[in-house]
Amino acid sequence: MKRLPYLVACAALAACAAKAEKFEGLALTPPMGWNTWNTFAENCSESLVRETADAMAANGMRDAGYVYIVIDDCWAKKERDADGNLVADPVKFPSGMKALGDYLHSKGFKFGMYGCAGKTTCGGYPGGRGHEFQDARLYASWGVDYFKYDWCDHGTANGPETYRIMSDAIRAAGRPIVFSLCEWGQNQPWLWAEPVGHLWRTTGDIGASYATGGKNKWEHGWKNLLDMNVGLEKYAGPGHWNDPDMLEVGNKGLTLAESRAHFSFWCMLAAPLIAGNDVRHMAPEIRAILTNKGVISIDQDPLGHQGFRYRVDKDKEIWAKELANKEWAVCVLNTGDAPAKLALDMRELTFLTEQYYDVTDVWAGKPAGTALDPHAGIVDSHDVMLFRLKPGS
Ligand code: GLA
Repeated sequence: MKRLPYLVACAALAACAAKAEKFEGLALTPPMGWNTWNTFAENCSESLVRETADAMAANGMRDAGYVYIVIDDCWAKKERDADGNLVADPVKFPSGMKALGDYLHSKGFKFGMYGCAGKTTCGGYPGGRGHEFQDARLYASWGVDYFKYDWCDHGTANGPETYRIMSDAIRAAGRPIVFSLCEWGQNQPWLWAEPVGHLWRTTGDIGASYATGGKNKWEHGWKNLLDMNVGLEKYAGPGHWNDPDMLEVGNKGLTLAESRAHFSFWCMLAAPLIAGNDVRHMAPEIRAILTNKGVISIDQDPLGHQGFRYRVDKDKEIWAKELANKEWAVCVLNTGDAPAKLALDMRELTFLTEQYYDVTDVWAGKPAGTALDPHAGIVDSHDVMLFRLKPGS
């Protein structure tokens, strides 16, 4: 009899633990894909999504790992139907979402959708509040694999509680879905969202600039977002990632160097790599950035450690990311407004544990001596040098 209180406590704990238990085993490396929002905003459509999938299958993106194709805001009709179900806009999505999901699956992609935890989405479409379980069943019936849940029009709702309800609803619907929380870091999701979802936005929205915002006044340049993620590295890991927002690589507002550096840093952060450009019509050098295997392997490293800022000097920052098998990635950024000669003395990197390392220049795809050799180069404004260090002898 003495064991009874213990058993009751366990049962109560188990009941608590059963709440907000996301599907495990998903997003063991940061999710990769494409999303309609950054370039197309309210102009998402079935034809755009199909053409994008076709382009990504043909241009190497799918095979490089970009498998989640996500339809963001503005896909729905402005009203739910008589049963309270969301309805896809029949003009934008004439074949319906189930058929579109089937098409994506048939081409080797996974299907992502967007909803909002408030009464309406940021674009003014029906939100999920009060409809969580019904909506999760609908998404599951459409074959959705990834679900982004936004935070507009939430009124006085409590953040952690609201996202837990949606997580429970996804769980109850029974289809394993990657759950992407998009509450802009307002409730410090890194402190509570690990059991709830697989990734969480840490910041407000990205815009296509280095550090001067975007086309909307609430947007930030990627360097601003990078700075806001300093210190959050300990909260990321396999199945639970900090999300500094989607990529602007290839979008107007960034130089080629800034696109390359933006991509390098999202990989250093172990960030989700969700492309946001028009991949049907991109320049070969943008495609080369997005599909660079060496850089992507830093993001997708199985250890799942987020990189950290090691050192800030005038016009220069050094970042490091621990990789599996005692390897490291080291990234040096020219924060100045002009090209500059940057030097990196790897003997000064106090986090290194081994005596010898072989070094690769990742963007050049070439060996670059050892960690005992000097490393220096002329680096464009807002561009990087990116190295991979592997224990050697
Ligand atoms: C918010 C999100 C964006 C995008 C828009 C859609 O601003 O943070 O990523 O989903 O809403 O309206």
